[in-house]
Amino acid sequence: MGKRITVTVIKADVGGFVGHTSVHPELLEKAKGALSGCPLLIDYHVTYVGDDINLIMTHELGRNNGEIHKLAWDTFVACTEVAKKLKLYGAGQDLLSDAFSGNIKGLGPGVAEMEVEERESEPIVIFMADKTEPGAWNLPLYKIFADPFNTIGLVIDPKMHSGFVFEVRDLIENKKIMFNAPEDIYDMLVFIGAPGRYAIKRIFHRETGQIAAVSSVQRLNLIAGRYIGKDDPVCIVRCQSGYPAVGEVLEPFATPHLVSGWMRGSHSGPLMPVGLKDAHPCRFDGPPRVVALGFQLANGKLVGPRDLFDDPAFDRAREMSNQIADYLRRLGPFEPHRLHLDEMEYTTMPMVMQKLKDRFIDLRLAKAQKAKEKGGA
Ligand code: F6R
Ligand code: MG
Ligand code: MG
Repeated sequence: MGKRITVTVIKADVGGFVGHTSVHPELLEKAKGALSGCPLLIDYHVTYVGDDINLIMTHELGRNNGEIHKLAWDTFVACTEVAKKLKLYGAGQDLLSDAFSGNIKGLGPGVAEMEVEERESEPIVIFMADKTEPGAWNLPLYKIFADPFNTIGLVIDPKMHSGFVFEVRDLIENKKIMFNAPEDIYDMLVFIGAPGRYAIKRIFHRETGQIAAVSSVQRLNLIAGRYIGKDDPVCIVRCQSGYPAVGEVLEPFATPHLVSGWMRGSHSGPLMPVGLKDAHPCRFDGPPRVVALGFQLANGKLVGPRDLFDDPAFDRAREMSNQIADYLRRLGPFEPHRLHLDEMEYTTMPMVMQKLKDRFIDLRLAKAQKAKEKGGA
C-alpha cells in the first residue's frame, strides 16, 4: 500500500467574467502563481466551471488542515484583488468573512477533501458544477453506488457486492445519519430525494470502510443568512478495483436530471454535462453545468486531467438538456420551473406581501362575521 495522500478541492466565486458566466484568465493565472512552488503541496491543478475557481490540491497534511485551508483562502483573496482591479462582477462574493480563522469551512468557499492510502493505481474523478447546489449530487451518487441498473459492478464484481455506506446530512438541522446500501435504500430515498435539505456528504466502501466519495456540503445562503449565490458544489469519487469503474461513475450524467439553481438560484433546470470548453452557463444564466476531470494519482502527483465529458457519447445528454431547457423556459415564472417559495434564494415575496396585506380578506373571519350578522338580524 502507498502513502496517505489527501486530495483537497476548494472552490469559490470571487468575481465573474462577464456577469456570472465565467472566470477571467487573469484570476486563474493569479491562482496558479499563488499555489506554484508552495512547499505544503505535492501537486495542484487550477481550473474553473462557470464563475467558480476550483483549486485541486494534493498533500500529506490530512483533512481540515489549517495551513492548506489558509493557502486556499489567501489565494482567493489575491484573486479578489485582481477581480476588483478589473471590476469583475461580484468581486470577492464568496469570501464571507474579513479574515481567515483556522478553517475555511463556514467562511464561504466550498470544500471537499478525502484522505486515501494511495492504491497501486488510484484513478479519481472530480465533478464540479455551476449554478446549482450540493444536493445535485444525490441522484448521480445514488445511481453510482446503489443502483445496479447503472453500476453493474454492484452485481458482478465480488469486491463491490457487499455495497456502500452513505453519510447523509440534514442541512437545515445540521445533523447526519448513516445508511447501508442496499438494505436501507428505501429509507434513504425518503431523504435524499429531497436534495434541497438532505445531501450525501460521504460514501464508504462497506467491507473495507475506506472512503469512496465526498462532496462539498454547505449552504452558502444558510451561512450568510442572505442570498449570495447557490453553493455550486464539487465532488470527488474514487474509481476502479472495488469502486465503480470510471464509466459507471460517469453514466448517470447521460440523462440530465433536474437540479435547483439556474437563474438567480431560483429555478429548476437540467444539469448539462460538458467539457471545459463549454463550461460557461449563459442561457438564462444556465442551464446548470457539470464538468468531470479525471486524474491518476501517482504518489500524490495529479496525472491529468482528462476532460471526461468532452466526449461525443455525451452529445445526446447535452441535446436533451437543451430540449428540457426549452420546455421549462416556456413556463416562465411558474412552478415547477420557478422553485417552490421556500426554496427561492431571493424573492420579492415579503415586499409584495407587505404591500398587499390590507387587500387580503380572511375568509374564515368574514364568514364568522356574516353568521354573527345573520344571528343578530
Ligand atoms: C445564480 C447566479 C445568477 C445571478 C443573476 C443575477 O446562481 O449567479 O443567475 O443570480 O445573474 O445576479 P445579480 O443579482 O448579481 O445581478
Ligand atoms: Mg457569481
Ligand atoms: Mg457559480
